[in-house]
Amino acid sequence: MSDNKAVHRAAEIIRRGGIVAFPTETVYGLGADAFNPLAVARIFEVKRRPSFDPLIVHVANPADVKRLVKEIPSNAKKLIERFWPGPLTVVLLKEEDIPDIVTAGLPTLAIRMPSHPMALSLIRESNSPIAAPSANLFGYLSPTTAEHVREQLGDQVDLILDGGPCSVGVESTIVSFLEEKPKLLRPGGVSLEEIESVIGKVEAHPIGEARPQAPGMLPKHYAPRTPIVLDWDKKNLDLLEDKNIGFLAFQDPKNYLKFQSIEVLSKKGDIREAAANLFAAIRRLDALDLNLILAEPIPEIGLGRAIMDRLRRASTKGEIN
Ligand code: TXA
Ligand code: MG
Repeated sequence: MSDNKAVHRAAEIIRRGGIVAFPTETVYGLGADAFNPLAVARIFEVKRRPSFDPLIVHVANPADVKRLVKEIPSNAKKLIERFWPGPLTVVLLKEEDIPDIVTAGLPTLAIRMPSHPMALSLIRESNSPIAAPSANLFGYLSPTTAEHVREQLGDQVDLILDGGPCSVGVESTIVSFLEEKPKLLRPGGVSLEEIESVIGKVEAHPIGEARPQAPGMLPKHYAPRTPIVLDWDKKNLDLLEDKNIGFLAFQDPKNYLKFQSIEVLSKKGDIREAAANLFAAIRRLDALDLNLILAEPIPEIGLGRAIMDRLRRASTKGEIN
């Protein structure tokens, strides 16, 4: 089937109240018509989310935001102008007719305009904004290829659109505009530096807050099955000699000990490339039945902040023995 035909079919499924997995530049999403509460309910069922958790609504045109929210503060407008289409989500006060299941009863709505051409065509042809979380089971890593979606959700979704590997590889940056000062709810594909260069200082949110405003902020949200350890110490590595250990290297690994398997995120140490490879690399290591995955810390600049955020959430804290 050609890409165009696949998108036609997918849009028809969405219009009829079905659910479709589709590529975005960040990660694959699992989408339904945002104005069809039953279709949205099926997303929660398929993802096995233990409780309702608000979804991001995806639009194909910045002008569509007006119809979905009460007002657009000027700083939100500036970010939209600068970063859409792209990996930025804004949280604004919602219009009354947005179904409660989309926002989990919150008075606010998270919105973004993705840049992946297939996502944009799908939204346009569906004639409605598309509500979509990442297309993974609750608590697991987001998918960055159609194959990842197939493995986890396979026959439970009506169609999986294949748009190749996601170019950004980490989820969108979420900025809330509910209070006077914009607040970073989740670091992601647009760096904090880029955002602050447009609207000035943004309040960052500490990890592991007791009452997270975005469930993606739960400390253990992106966990693979194999324990990931981030704060390991070279000195202790010989204690692990008899264990099967994988190494998630940022760049050229120095062979500290015999790892069962090594994944290099970016040979040349490019942080963007590392972000694009992150989830697929963790999945490959996670499939090997290792005792442990050691991850090499990444400089926390640009997308490094989003990568380290996901690694911290995926990791087990504490001793490696
Ligand atoms: O890049 C992305 O954002 C991807 C692609 C598919 O667009 N989507 C994604 O969706 O990561 P999801 O559902 O996996 O994560 C959305 C996050 C959740 O942590 C959710 O709690 C938060 O956004 N969120 C959604 N609506 C919100 C709201 N009204 N206020 C605060 N947080 C919200
Ligand atoms: Mg998710």
